[in-house]
Amino acid sequence: MILKKSKGLLGELTVPGDKSISHRTVMLGALAEGVTEAEGFLPGADCLSTISCFRQMGVSIHQEGDRILIHGVGLHGLKAPERILDAGNSGTTVRLLSGILAGQNFTSRITGDASIQKRPMKRIIEPLSQMGASVSSVNGNGCAPLEIHGSSLHGIHYHTPVASAQVKSCILLAGMYGQNATSVTEPALSRDHTERMLRFMGASLSSDGRTVSIQPEPRLKGKKIRIPGDISSAAYFIAAGLLVPNSEILLKNVGINTTRSGMLNVCRDMGADLTLLNEDTSGPEPVADLLVKSSSLHGTVIEGDLIPALIDELPILAVLAAFAQGTTTIRDAAELKVKESDRIASVSENLRRMGADVTPTEDGMILHGGKPLHGATIETGLDHRIAMSFSIAALAAEGDTKIPDADCVSISYPEFYQDLASLQF
Ligand code: S3P
Repeated sequence: MILKKSKGLLGELTVPGDKSISHRTVMLGALAEGVTEAEGFLPGADCLSTISCFRQMGVSIHQEGDRILIHGVGLHGLKAPERILDAGNSGTTVRLLSGILAGQNFTSRITGDASIQKRPMKRIIEPLSQMGASVSSVNGNGCAPLEIHGSSLHGIHYHTPVASAQVKSCILLAGMYGQNATSVTEPALSRDHTERMLRFMGASLSSDGRTVSIQPEPRLKGKKIRIPGDISSAAYFIAAGLLVPNSEILLKNVGINTTRSGMLNVCRDMGADLTLLNEDTSGPEPVADLLVKSSSLHGTVIEGDLIPALIDELPILAVLAAFAQGTTTIRDAAELKVKESDRIASVSENLRRMGADVTPTEDGMILHGGKPLHGATIETGLDHRIAMSFSIAALAAEGDTKIPDADCVSISYPEFYQDLASLQF
C-alpha cells in the first residue's frame, strides 16, 4: 500500500462492529439457551477465529457479512473438539475461551499464530489453576499452545496485577462453572463488555468499584443484539479528520462505553473539535455519532487509570502527538509491549522513520511534536493497529509512505482502505 498526503477528508462513515463485543456475542451466544441473533458483527479475521473454535465444539453458527445467528447449546452443551483449537492472531479468543474450556468435562488444546505464541498466558494460567483447573503451557514457556483439562471449579477472589479485560473476562467465564461465587479486583477498570453482555443474557453479577463478582451456573438466554461500531476502528478516522486540513467526518453509531472511550477525552484535552450527536443509552452498550473537524492540536499527558480505556488507541494517539505542538508523555502503558507487537518499539521506530522526535520509555514514550513528518517505509510486524495508525500518519506527511504488509488490517477492519478512499476528495 502506498499512501500520499491528503488534501482533505469529507463525508460520513459507519465503521465496522466492535471487535470485543463481536467475540463475546459468539461466546455467550454459544453458551446460552436458544438463538442469539446479532447485527453489526465484525467479520474480521479475529472474530472468524472465534466462530471456527465454537463450530469445532458443535455449535451451529450462520454468519453472513455483519449478521450472525448462533444456536446456543447451553452452559454444558459444548462437545470436545477433535483437533487443536486455532485462535489465529486473537488474544481475546485464547484468553476468554480458556476460561470457558477450564469448566468443561473434556480436555482441549488451543494455540494461534506466531504472535499469539509469544504473548503471556501465565496471567490466565495462574487464576485458572487457583480455581482448580489444570492448564499448562505445552512448551513450558508460559505461552500458547495451552492444554486445558476441564474440571469442576471453585470460586476465588482474585486480585489481578494487570488491568486486562481479557484476564478479568477469562476468570468471570470460568466463574460460571464454579461451585460458589467468583470475584475479580483490577488495579484500574478495564473494558466491561463481558459483564454487560452476561447481565443482558440473564447472569447475576455485582460490581463495587474495581471489583466484580459473578454467581455460578447462570441460565443464559439467547438475545437479539445490536453490536455498535468499534471505537477502536473509529479512532483512525477521528485522527485523520483532526490531522488533515479541510476535513469534516461524521462517524455513525460508534460505541462510547466509558471503559473504551478514553481517546475522546485525550483528543479534547489536545484541542480537538469533536462533537457527540444522537447519543443513545437505551441498549446494553451506549452509542453516538461522532463529528470530527480539522483541529490544531497541542501536547498532553496520557497516564494512570485512563490507560485501559484507550490501550488499543495509543498507537494512533502517538501519531496525533507527533503532529501536535509541544510535548506529549505517555506513561503507565507497559502493556503495550505485549500486544500483537511490541507497540512501544514499533510506534517509536516507525515515527522515527517519518522524522518525529520520539523517545521510547519502559512504560510509554515521550514525543516532542510539531516537526514536519515525511513519508517512509513502515514496518508493521503484521500488527493491524500499526498498519492503520501509520496509514493515517501518511495522510499528513510529505511524500510517499509505503506499508508493505497492509493486508494485516483484515484482523479488525477488512474494508479499512476502501473506507478511507471513500472520504478523500
Ligand atoms: C480486549 C482487551 C484488551 C485489548 C484487546 C481486546 C478484549 O486486551 O487490548 O484488543 O476484547 O477484552 P487486554 O485485556 O489484554 O488489555
